[in-house]
Amino acid sequence: MKVSLIVAKAENNVIGKNNDLVWKLSDDLKHFKKTTTGQHLIMGRKTYESMGKPLPNRTSIVVSRNEDYSVPDEHFCVQNLEQALALGKKLNLETIIIAGGGEIYKMALPYVDEMIITEVKVTPEGDTFFPEINWSEWQETKREHFEKNDKNEYAFDIAFYKRK
Ligand SMILES: NC(=O)c1ccc[n+]([C@@H]2O[C@H](COP(=O)([O-])OP(=O)(O)OC[C@H]3O[C@@H](n4cnc5c(N)ncnc54)[C@H](OP(=O)(O)O)[C@@H]3O)[C@@H](O)[C@H]2O)c1
Repeated sequence: MKVSLIVAKAENNVIGKNNDLVWKLSDDLKHFKKTTTGQHLIMGRKTYESMGKPLPNRTSIVVSRNEDYSVPDEHFCVQNLEQALALGKKLNLETIIIAGGGEIYKMALPYVDEMIITEVKVTPEGDTFFPEINWSEWQETKREHFEKNDKNEYAFDIAFYKRK
């Protein structure tokens, strides 16, 4: 099972503020939808609640220490990351996607094979951060640039990294 991670992060590693995103990037949302549709997404309970409900056409695996936490049918709640990954294996998934937020990215990083990072060209204020990466462990395999325009509040790159 391949473990992928998808994130949109600022130049200062900010990924969120007040349990929400800090930008409006229409082309990044399209990329997120295209990349994640049909997939199983592991996310922290706070990220799940920031979305309000499971994203359509995707299976949510929500990580919470609360054993009584409940999610709609066809979705899963687990008590730690190892259980989330074990569930993916049990379901015979080809790929499982780590979808944040900050606490989950940090915990999951050692297991990740591929990172799909939207690198947003801004240094905003925020309260949630992507962890520091040891870039010597990663090889960039693809990059696409998007200009700032009326649909994308800031310029950004979408970059793919494979673990060396
Ligand atoms: N820019 C992006 O790409 C992106 C993507 C996703 C999220 N975000 C942003 O990130 C922010 C949310 O991130 P966050 O770091 O605050 O929260 P989070 O990682 O989404 O969720 C944290 C929760 O996960 C559970 N958890 C964490 N560690 C655990 C462990 N070891 N065992 C069991 N459960 C554990 C706990 O749930 P319980 O409290 O229920 O136990 C904890 O409160 C929001 O602002 C969101 O918009 C940004």
